[in-house]
Amino acid sequence: MYYDFLGRQIASSKQSIMKIAIGSDHAGYEEKETIKKQLEQMGIECEDFGTDSARNSVDYPDFAALVGNAVTSGKADRGILVCGTGIGVSIAANKIPGVRAALAWSAETAKLARSHNDANVLTVGARTSTPENIKEIINAYITSQFEGGRHALRVEKIAQLEKK
Ligand code: RB5
Repeated sequence: MYYDFLGRQIASSKQSIMKIAIGSDHAGYEEKETIKKQLEQMGIECEDFGTDSARNSVDYPDFAALVGNAVTSGKADRGILVCGTGIGVSIAANKIPGVRAALAWSAETAKLARSHNDANVLTVGARTSTPENIKEIINAYITSQFEGGRHALRVEKIAQLEKK
């Protein structure tokens, strides 16, 4: 059984909580497609918010907004965003109240983003991580759970910052 930071029961298995909103800019398009296949193999439902090509240059904040809003509206349980570095989508998504987007560059940082920060959006850099690295990052993010406890208070303090 899993609980959110307020102690509310949210699911009985990892699969049942998982609907992922995914998005990228042109720089992250190919990796987004690969991640979608990985999620499918893990039995996780995925909604793709674009972009739909690596050829046309687009603006990463547009896709960060679509994915971030899908998560905070409850349309998706979590989000995954890819751009060249993962930095731009992370900065943009974190402007949306309720989003806790974390840029992960290793399985360890992805795991900690879930277990300590309850990150509801994961961002990765297509130009700064290898395909194998991204695979490990996604796997760690999906299979890790928020630890709650002392971390819940800290996550709540993040939420309070949005109200100032
Ligand atoms: C696009 O060229 C690139 O700037 C973008 O994908 C991202 O890396 C921004 O943070």
